[in-house]
Amino acid sequence: MNNNLLIYGANGYTAELIIELALNEGAKPILAGRSEEKLAPLAKRHKLPLRPFALDEPGIVAKNLAGVAVVLNCAGPFSRTAKTMAEACIEAGVHYLDITGEIDVFEALALMGPKASRAGVMLMPGTGFDVVPSDCLVAHLKRRMPDANALTLAFQAIGRPSHGTATTMVENLHRGGMIRRDGKLTAVPSGSASREIDFGRGPVSTMRIPWGDVSTAWVSTAIPNIEVFMAAPTALQWMARASRYLGGVMGSNLVQNLLKRQIDGGPAGPNAEQRQRGASHLWGQVRNAAGQTATSRLDTVEGYALTALTAWDIAKRTAGGEAQPGYRTPSLVFGADYILNFAGTKRTDL
Ligand SMILES: NC(=O)c1ccc[n+]([C@@H]2O[C@H](COP(=O)([O-])OP(=O)(O)OC[C@H]3O[C@@H](n4cnc5c(N)ncnc54)[C@H](OP(=O)(O)O)[C@@H]3O)[C@@H](O)[C@H]2O)c1
Repeated sequence: MNNNLLIYGANGYTAELIIELALNEGAKPILAGRSEEKLAPLAKRHKLPLRPFALDEPGIVAKNLAGVAVVLNCAGPFSRTAKTMAEACIEAGVHYLDITGEIDVFEALALMGPKASRAGVMLMPGTGFDVVPSDCLVAHLKRRMPDANALTLAFQAIGRPSHGTATTMVENLHRGGMIRRDGKLTAVPSGSASREIDFGRGPVSTMRIPWGDVSTAWVSTAIPNIEVFMAAPTALQWMARASRYLGGVMGSNLVQNLLKRQIDGGPAGPNAEQRQRGASHLWGQVRNAAGQTATSRLDTVEGYALTALTAWDIAKRTAGGEAQPGYRTPSLVFGADYILNFAGTKRTDL
């Protein structure tokens, strides 16, 4: 069962959660990544096949995809890995999935959509917390208000970030914010807006962030104006605003290396108990030209637990024949109600 599924970056924190789910179901995914030294103990422990290879050369990557039907890329920051792996997948006729949340990565892969389509290959980045629950919520809101022309999304993640998420955040610190305005991606200053949002337990302070849905919700719904907010303590909102004036400093090797050393010294990610205790709350609102609104909330499990569940489920479905060639978002293929399949998930229309 599912022996033709390759997990790249298999020694990473999130990949290991996915491998655990696969093993519980008796699946035998191929473990891949750039470091044989790091992968070998994992492959030995779980008696799984091993394919060590780096992503420097698409031709070599494609050769390593022989006999594979689906790649689930868990190696992030994806700005370093997604394009090469997706190109190799197209060349080898293999479906490509990942767990990115990076806008630039979504946009780059969307441009590869027509080529993927001709090759009969599906490219679906964002099969984790970003963007599965939010993309399903957005599709539901569009269904409630078909003439919506503006979308505001927000989320509150209760739990702590993993090593890879923290590294990805640090690498994007100096890049500023992003919204979609009249169908176009539009750069805005970091933390350029804040607002109070009620996720179900009273108003919470949130700030605008450059989240993946600014890219994907447009593909899923064609709503031309999109912004995303994240619940954040005041100190973080101050830091985000300060980074506008410190962009060069934040992006400098000195500061980047300092922050990454601190991340490397910390734990790989939330432990089992922290994942169990954590939760994710999403809120979305659409508005039409007449000023009418529709608002819905989605409550679900902790972000990394959910990422493992959705990424593994999408990988299985893709291997099982549910793939659609071309660039696809989760809700386009699996529908707005897909997220309701996962235990602990509840949607409420307000
Ligand atoms: N969308 C979501 O909701 C969501 C959820 C979870 C995680 N993520 C993202 O997923 C990524 C992984 O997170 P994590 O916490 O699992 O990270 P992690 O524990 O730090 O693992 C990262 C993995 O990526 C590999 N890698 C990094 N750069 C690479 C490169 N240039 N070439 C080949 N392999 C490379 C690493 O290999 P080495 O060990 O050899 O360095 C490692 O296997 C992050 O970008 C994170 O933001 C997103």
